[in-house]
Amino acid sequence: MTNVVIINGSNTRNSRVTAIQEKVERFFTAHSVTIHTNYVHELPADALITANYANDDIIAENKKVEEADIVVVLTPIYKASYTGILKTYLDLLPQKALVGKTVLPIAVGGSIGHLLALEYALKPILAVLGATNIAHSVYIVDKQIIRLENGNFAIEDDANNRLEAELNKLQNIVAIN
Ligand SMILES: Cc1cc2nc3c(=O)[nH]c(=O)nc-3n(C[C@H](O)[C@H](O)[C@H](O)COP(=O)(O)O)c2cc1C
Repeated sequence: MTNVVIINGSNTRNSRVTAIQEKVERFFTAHSVTIHTNYVHELPADALITANYANDDIIAENKKVEEADIVVVLTPIYKASYTGILKTYLDLLPQKALVGKTVLPIAVGGSIGHLLALEYALKPILAVLGATNIAHSVYIVDKQIIRLENGNFAIEDDANNRLEAELNKLQNIVAIN
């Protein structure tokens, strides 16, 4: 059975980033893959801020990563980078936590100006954590995600297609049923 973990570095579930997360979840659920989402902002703040490796919630999340075949790292762009919230959790992963895993980085930014943020900021961290199989990053501008009156989201075709293309490639990398 393939295991997927999404690490969501957003600061709220009420974010357009959630639309992307739900799309990723729907994709893997349709392939009968076990999927777990780590909402980093819902982990105990004191454990994140004090780098408390012994915290039970941190240990449980790290175990999910250990068991994962695919790790999707999803973040809004803040100050030309991934979020500080995400970094507090990445700092608590074991040194080589991403060895042997396929990693898909996805970002939602307010402008196209920080298109390369995942390349210069996130990918070096993923490499330090041992990832050698890093998929092409997907960068989506927030205006491509439309908040509907019923609370759901619509994703513009361009963003949808780019995301689907990367997700479909994962089928070839890991044996998804
Ligand atoms: C504190 C903060 C800093 C941000 N910095 C950037 C930035 O440097 N570059 C950028 O493209 N977008 C930036 N944004 C926009 C967010 O990336 C964008 O609003 C978010 O991905 C969409 O999520 P939302 O629906 O929660 O607003 C910033 C947003 C916040 C709140």
